[in-house]
Amino acid sequence: MEILDGKKVSNDIKDEIAVEVQKMKERGEKVPHLAAVLVGNDGASLTYVGSKVRACERIGFESTLVKMPDTTSEIELLAKIKELNEDDNIDGFIVQLPLPPQIDEQKILLAVHPDKDVDGFHPMNFGRMALEMPAFISATPFGILELLERYNVETKGKHTVVIGRSHIVGRPISILMGRKGSPGNSTVTLTHSHTQNIEQIIAQADIVISALGVPNFLKAEMVKENAVVIDVGITRVSDESNPKGYRIVGDVDFENVSKKASFITPVPGGVGPMTIAMLLKNTLLARERHQN
Ligand code: GUN
Repeated sequence: MEILDGKKVSNDIKDEIAVEVQKMKERGEKVPHLAAVLVGNDGASLTYVGSKVRACERIGFESTLVKMPDTTSEIELLAKIKELNEDDNIDGFIVQLPLPPQIDEQKILLAVHPDKDVDGFHPMNFGRMALEMPAFISATPFGILELLERYNVETKGKHTVVIGRSHIVGRPISILMGRKGSPGNSTVTLTHSHTQNIEQIIAQADIVISALGVPNFLKAEMVKENAVVIDVGITRVSDESNPKGYRIVGDVDFENVSKKASFITPVPGGVGPMTIAMLLKNTLLARERHQN
């Protein structure tokens, strides 16, 4: 069994990007600039956005954090997005999800200019991704592909079972794994809450990608011997022994599933850190595209 070490790989990617930024500086070019919009005070969102901004600083990007109160109206947020779309100094930006209930998420995602949509959430980027055209690929699925590639995990002809059909992870990774090329060329089954006989389907998987958000959902007896197991779950459970008062757990019973798997991602330290690295990679791509 080999651990797919997202922490290590994400650090490698950040180091690689930092080298590119250094070269840009030496050529007298503007460095990439990422902006993040955070509406409200959701604890997890604050943590994620904080990590994104710190990662920018570490690799030499410019970053801007736009904090808006949880009473922000849809019109106010749309105005901010227009401003960021038109600001030549910003190469890419993200609007952290979830948004407060008075704001229509679809309207917001449609308002982000596709050339600055480093989250890859705009239908233009999602469509281009599905059609195998150049696109910003959402950071979490992009991170999964990158992990599979860097560990030379064979995906061609394999049966990949994705659990969960979220717009951010399950659905895009189900498309990406079936695309032409490498990693890809996989035969994909996308399962969800209405799937019948889900255990029989998972038992046939060469590669299982669980993006469900249910701690300990995937047990050792459910997976095939030597399966590749990717755990995208990040659920906070209260833990008094932890200084933060909680710890992060995945969808997979790691202790037992790891004894059967050929490759497995830990939580934390698997897919999570890859997400930030790939967001930075998308921002670097955005900068390079704006330059040309
Ligand atoms: N909320 C959970 N994951 C993400 C992400 O990758 N991007 C944004 N903008 N919001 C999120």
